[in-house]
Amino acid sequence: MGRWVAQVRRRISSPIVTHKTQTGSTTGSIVVLVSGCGTNLQALIDAAANPGYGVRIAAVGADRDDIAGLTRARRAGIPTFVCPVADFPLRAEWDAALASQVAAYHPRLVVLAGFMKLTGEAFLRQFGGRTVNTHPALLPSFPGIKGPKDALEYGVKVTGATLFVVDAGVDTGPIVAQTAVKVADDDTVETLHERIKTAERQMLVDYVGRMVRDGYSVKERKVTIS
Ligand code: GRF
Repeated sequence: MGRWVAQVRRRISSPIVTHKTQTGSTTGSIVVLVSGCGTNLQALIDAAANPGYGVRIAAVGADRDDIAGLTRARRAGIPTFVCPVADFPLRAEWDAALASQVAAYHPRLVVLAGFMKLTGEAFLRQFGGRTVNTHPALLPSFPGIKGPKDALEYGVKVTGATLFVVDAGVDTGPIVAQTAVKVADDDTVETLHERIKTAERQMLVDYVGRMVRDGYSVKERKVTIS
């Protein structure tokens, strides 16, 4: 099996981060963080069931218990952990604890799939440049937690989903991939978000697989998959 080489040429605040596999295809592990329903996670679980996908989900973490996402992971036999913000007096302590729980699984990539918390400095020091998040709008339009609602209210005719490398901002990191979805005249926030999520899951599976199997680089705002 080929050895994974993570070549961080500069610190994450600097423009070039390269993660390359040394030899072609290998199975790389990821940690997925969720906060809710977990349909994006389920898409990754289903894809990872095929060895040819080349991705192993080492663990699923959450910021709350009793969510469908954790049930999906446990049903698939994937280790889980829960790290609630309320368990820590300071947000920074939660962030550091989350980072160390994730680090225990030595992931090649961390995937925020409907994880509704912002990761902070300690987390980004450890996983910056190798954490991706999926957002249900075409960034930089409609960042934040109401992407589909904001797009609908603005009256756009096309919206979609964005996969990006997490940085210190809110939905501001370098873009890995985007997928577009038409807005229908009779859409509600719910119907629009469901249509976005169908496209989003496909994009997530496709690009997480490619990033893990093939490696990628981030130069300034440009993400290139090898
Ligand atoms: C996704 O649309 C994600 O982009 C957003 O919340 C939704 C999570 O869906 N942040 P699920 O939990 O994966 O079903």
